[in-house]
Amino acid sequence: MKKLLIITVLISLSGMILTSCGNSGKNTAMKSPEQNESKSEENEGKENEGNESLVKQGTDVKAKTTENMLAAFKGETTASAKYAAYSKKAEQEGYHQIALLFKAASTSENIHANNHKAVLQESGTVLPTIKPEFTIKSTKENLEDAIKGETYEVTTMYPDFITTANTANNQMALISLNYAYKTEKKHKVMYTTALIALNNKTDKNLPSVFYICSTCGNTYETTAPARCGISMTSSDKFLKLTSV
Ligand SMILES: [Fe+2]
Ligand SMILES: [Fe+2]
Repeated sequence: MKKLLIITVLISLSGMILTSCGNSGKNTAMKSPEQNESKSEENEGKENEGNESLVKQGTDVKAKTTENMLAAFKGETTASAKYAAYSKKAEQEGYHQIALLFKAASTSENIHANNHKAVLQESGTVLPTIKPEFTIKSTKENLEDAIKGETYEVTTMYPDFITTANTANNQMALISLNYAYKTEKKHKVMYTTALIALNNKTDKNLPSVFYICSTCGNTYETTAPARCGISMTSSDKFLKLTSV
């Protein structure tokens, strides 16, 4: 009798446990293998879309950086030729110090053009033939034109190009663009000072010695530090300019 009672209790208990397990299955978010597979495919699809978008974005900024480097290469090549012509014009008009400034800037822009060219070559870009187009006017007008050009480069062009190269994570482009950007800021100040001096007829007091860093084109008037303030290049690599 005692044995029968124990067996009955055990059967009842096992029934309760089984019922409880069944209920718990119904109430959870567990899915069939088919459902899980479908959800996984859905997530994978979204991930692929995201990856494709990132890849497209990456390709876009990469292509845009190449386009920008080509524009910068063309701009610096043209600026170098233009300033060389402006230098000759200034010398003809008797503005020797301004002629020196134009020659120093021309030398600097040529360094920028070569740096940009190296970046393009590194990425396997075919370089176009640049035919510089510009008009030579009076030295006063040439200075105004130079200020306009440098202003565009330091307020719009280089900041935009640097932002895109940064997004593309193109380190070489960033170095080359920053060298030019930082130098053009100085050129803008030098040209503005020269124009004021020309207007005030004090141009003979302008600097008559220039140093140009052969790495980054950084331009110094009268004296130069032991190392370039932009590229840290040693001053023994600077180009010294005392005549046009
Ligand atoms: Fe410049
Ligand atoms: Fe430098």
